[in-house]
Amino acid sequence: MGEVDKKEDARGKAGSIYRIAGPVVVAKGIAARMYDVVRVGKEKLMGEVIQITDDKTVIQVYEDTSGITPGEPVINTGQPLVVELGPGLLTSIYDGIQRPLPILKAAMGDFITRGVDAPGLSREKKWEFTPVVSRGDMVKQGDALGEVEETPGIMHKVLVPPGMSGKVAEISKGKFTVDNIICKLDDGSKISLMQKWPVRMPRPVNKKLSPVMPLLTGQRIFDALFPLAKGGVAAIPGPFGAGKTVTQQTLAKWSDADIIVYIGCGERGNEMTEVLTEFPHLTDPKSGNPLMNRTVLIANTSNMPVAAREASVYTGITIAEFYRDMGYSVALMADSTSRWAEAMREISSRLEEMPGEEGYPAYLSTRLAEFYERAGRAVPLGTVASNKKSEGSISVIGAVSPPGGDVSEPVSQATLRVAKVYWKLDARLAQRRHFPSINWLDSYSLYLRALEPWYAQNVAADWKEYVERMMRVLQEEEKLLEIVQLVGSDALPDREQLTLEIAKMIREFFLQQNAYHEVDTYSELKKTYMMMKIILLYGTLAQESLARKVPVRDIINIKAKQKIANARFEKGYEELLDSVEQEMRKEFEQLKGA
Ligand SMILES: Nc1ncnc2c1ncn2[C@@H]1O[C@H](COP(=O)(O)OP(=O)(O)O)[C@@H](O)[C@H]1O
Ligand SMILES: [Mg+2]
Repeated sequence: MGEVDKKEDARGKAGSIYRIAGPVVVAKGIAARMYDVVRVGKEKLMGEVIQITDDKTVIQVYEDTSGITPGEPVINTGQPLVVELGPGLLTSIYDGIQRPLPILKAAMGDFITRGVDAPGLSREKKWEFTPVVSRGDMVKQGDALGEVEETPGIMHKVLVPPGMSGKVAEISKGKFTVDNIICKLDDGSKISLMQKWPVRMPRPVNKKLSPVMPLLTGQRIFDALFPLAKGGVAAIPGPFGAGKTVTQQTLAKWSDADIIVYIGCGERGNEMTEVLTEFPHLTDPKSGNPLMNRTVLIANTSNMPVAAREASVYTGITIAEFYRDMGYSVALMADSTSRWAEAMREISSRLEEMPGEEGYPAYLSTRLAEFYERAGRAVPLGTVASNKKSEGSISVIGAVSPPGGDVSEPVSQATLRVAKVYWKLDARLAQRRHFPSINWLDSYSLYLRALEPWYAQNVAADWKEYVERMMRVLQEEEKLLEIVQLVGSDALPDREQLTLEIAKMIREFFLQQNAYHEVDTYSELKKTYMMMKIILLYGTLAQESLARKVPVRDIINIKAKQKIANARFEKGYEELLDSVEQEMRKEFEQLKGA
């Protein structure tokens, strides 16, 4: 204890608490810079400097401040808020300031009390390090020095930290803890398996690239109609109960990212508990290994202080950047960013700042934009793999929970200004049990054009044509339904009645997907393609039959049609759809014109 005191005192002059307002503490008598981490009160609660006036320093405290009193000491560590980056991040569950929750729980029980320090990365665990460079090699920032198998199949690249370069003077091989030195450069710099990085500063890249490939999700409505690019940003706004959390978790499970960073800021207290108990039991469908092997979870339960929630998104994105720098594609889910914005609002009001719209601080949209700008596809600083040109990406999927689902509120608006994909959840669809309840008319993806070549090359040349035909049918349905409301469906001409029928098939057989059904929860691209194709084939055959004056009733009663629905739930969808196609063609041939 005395040791620590001396060390911390040496870094900065101790001051004292002047005033306390919830998570915000004002101190006097310390010389601090913005974003310095300070230790507040006798219990040394962790805080961060967020405002400096003439003689006062304003600090947001990451732990509960009740019971601390003016006059208690405040010590400046002189360091910014950092995350520890290195092997051991995967499978971890952290709070907003990277304290491992299981360790906090073991130390404190269910109620997280205060002043507990727990390092983000274990100091005991040893990792087998295999170098890829030798003595005498020149290395520069971002270059891989070697590898550690972090979890089965996931190679953690140990990189030269940004700002360092030189000739390798010493390089080790063997088992090491994260703070052992594994490499020395000729200028004396020492490198361990762990590096630290200030959370509020984006990690540098060589250059940013524009997105050209989709982040595949296994969800038909996303992959076909509103695709997200690897390196892109999607927003999922929706009212309570519309399906934000289920969607985020489905994406964590099925998206084809290498690494998942999941930041949970629960709407309800038990929601995070669900995530915390469920995630560790989920299996990664691709590898058969636990999903946690490629996942970092950051959880803010409702009993955690707001300032830690404010910090959690930065902790999460910094971890995401670290894996991007290794050349991985990372998907980051934040559920829900509205809770983050509310933390900002609370802290801002404690600071007595001039409130902007709906009480949010005026800098709300800047903060949101700065956060989302850390997404992207990029060439890392260094060489991380010798055999291929490396690139990494961070795709961000942010849930937004506007009160009452009204997206005209500030957080939704600020998010939509930066997100290029809008997946709008619709409470009415959820009530009708249409899941995922994504509104297909209001949602959009601005990546559609950029991704067309990828789909044409990797799935089918006519992918785009099918997608466009489907969208046209759905839009036409919307117009027709207005007419039906007025005059009833019998008044519609045959052609239009058929359009309604095809739209219904698209909605029920294609857009709906049950996250809880073993097979339906994931649709590979080939399945998505074949299902679009067969629904639209029905459409084509139906219009042809109509042209030969076949009664519309007979066309709608085609039996093979119903079997398309089964494909959703069938592992052997290919044979099924092939036979459905043959049956359907035969049935249509047999229809007689009037
Ligand atoms: N894709 C889906 N498949 C099946 N059920 C779903 C799906 N999405 C949402 N649901 C249902 O809706 C409920 C509420 O979803 P949830 O994600 O918790 O809403 P939100 O996070 O928006 O408040 C879920 O408990 C589930 O029953
Ligand atoms: Mg939710």
